[in-house]
Amino acid sequence: MLPRNAMSLKLLMAFMYVSAIVNHVEGSYSGTNTGTYHDQMRRMALMKASHTIRNKDSTPQSYSTPTLYASAESRVHHVTEYGADPTGRSDSTEALQQAILHAFGSPLDGHLIKGVADLGGTQVHLDGGTYKISRPLLLPDTGGGNFMIHGGSLHASDDFPTDRHLIELRSPTTSLVYEDITLKDLMINSNFRGGGISIINSLRTTIDNCYISHFTSDGILIHGGHETYVRNSFIGQHINIGGDHREKDFSGIGINIIGNDNAITDVVIFSASIGIMVQGQANVFTGVHCYNKATGWGGTGIYIRAPGLTQTRILNSYFDFTGIVAEDPVELHISGSFFLGNAFISIKSLKGVACGITIVDNMFSGDYTGVPIVHLDQSNGRYFTTIDQIMVDRNVVRGMVHKSTVAKGSVWSNGTRWTVDFSHVLLFPNLIQNVQYTLQASESFPKHVLRNVSRNCVIVESDVPVSATLHVLVDQSMMGYV
Ligand SMILES: *[C@@H]1O[C@H](CO)[C@@H](O)[C@H](O)[C@H]1NC(C)=O
Ligand SMILES: *[C@@H]1O[C@H](CO)[C@@H](O)[C@H](O)[C@H]1NC(C)=O
Repeated sequence: MLPRNAMSLKLLMAFMYVSAIVNHVEGSYSGTNTGTYHDQMRRMALMKASHTIRNKDSTPQSYSTPTLYASAESRVHHVTEYGADPTGRSDSTEALQQAILHAFGSPLDGHLIKGVADLGGTQVHLDGGTYKISRPLLLPDTGGGNFMIHGGSLHASDDFPTDRHLIELRSPTTSLVYEDITLKDLMINSNFRGGGISIINSLRTTIDNCYISHFTSDGILIHGGHETYVRNSFIGQHINIGGDHREKDFSGIGINIIGNDNAITDVVIFSASIGIMVQGQANVFTGVHCYNKATGWGGTGIYIRAPGLTQTRILNSYFDFTGIVAEDPVELHISGSFFLGNAFISIKSLKGVACGITIVDNMFSGDYTGVPIVHLDQSNGRYFTTIDQIMVDRNVVRGMVHKSTVAKGSVWSNGTRWTVDFSHVLLFPNLIQNVQYTLQASESFPKHVLRNVSRNCVIVESDVPVSATLHVLVDQSMMGYV
């Protein structure tokens, strides 16, 4: 069932092909189009094109390359040709759904992953319009891949269901039926009714250059599936550029990931209680800028709650007055990132596990009120008991309290006892795995010995009084521990 003007694009495409052929066949036409000649050709072409399209199965009469007609059947479905209202005044749900259905209606013979038909690069084009929708846009249950929706704005109506998303990829069963679906160049306004986009049990999905706002649940939900790539996108509940008077009330999650193997790249999250929630493994975050809700208001930039294994990398990102929380992390890497406005990393104990963590080569900047760059959250008396391979090192800190798992210190004394206290800098209390020291004395050769490393305090004693400097390197990372 095609709406009234669904053929007009196809006609135009056909005209372009036919027009080229006509010019070629006549051989005599070149240079600037004169109105008369051009109009004449256009009328002729449209006549022939429309004849050809209406009689698809008959052989075209006057042209030598009939394959051109097949290619003139565009696989780009323009929603305005399905009766969608690009002004956003009337409801376009049905028209958009029809365009999607039609795009899924002509798969190629080939397949992507087993069971997923190749839709051949077909597109639903939003024609730069804004469309009001009252129900989620769904892809057909039959599935498919190599398909794109792009180029316009979607706006939830006032009666849009509050527990859904404007665009939903939702495989009907646990088997994957969508692969290589691209959602691109979209502005999505959830109108404070539910979420923006949900990707459930889908394979290799791209969300690119999307601006998602006014959600109440989450901007993007990724659940199950594999390899959803979100890039170059802006996500926020309330549109603001920081310091907004509503900030303490910001709620919802910018990107909610319950799955593995996803990548979030070059994304700004400017309003949400939690910027990115991670429940799954092998996800990577690069170039993410979180200023979604300040820690002081109870917000979190990236919250990692992956039971068992964390296996998360956060690279080259920007935490702007809001930080990172990781529960019982096992394999977590944070590097090349900038933490501004006292933003810090909290390692939270549920079962007392902290293993395989590298927090290196970051910059931290604060207001000199004594906030540590890495914080151990052992509230409710759940102390860290399984600590292995924790490397917090080589971070640059201004106006915050430096924390590290590797430290160096020196002290001069004239006597028999030298003490270097690392308790202010070492991350874990009362834990030194390895010490190396040198006692530098120019006047004599005393006997000396390492006495004590308890409470992160290194004590060296000599047999006779001597004026000497003690140099110490301590390590609580257990790197290279046997
Ligand atoms: C170290 O202490 C001894 C005894 O108190 C004193 O004689 C000596 O001058 C001191 N040396 C230095 C470098 O202060
Ligand atoms: C090491 O220092 C702690 C106090 O910091 C003390 O309780 C302990 O007895 C010391 N151990 C030795 C061997 O001196």
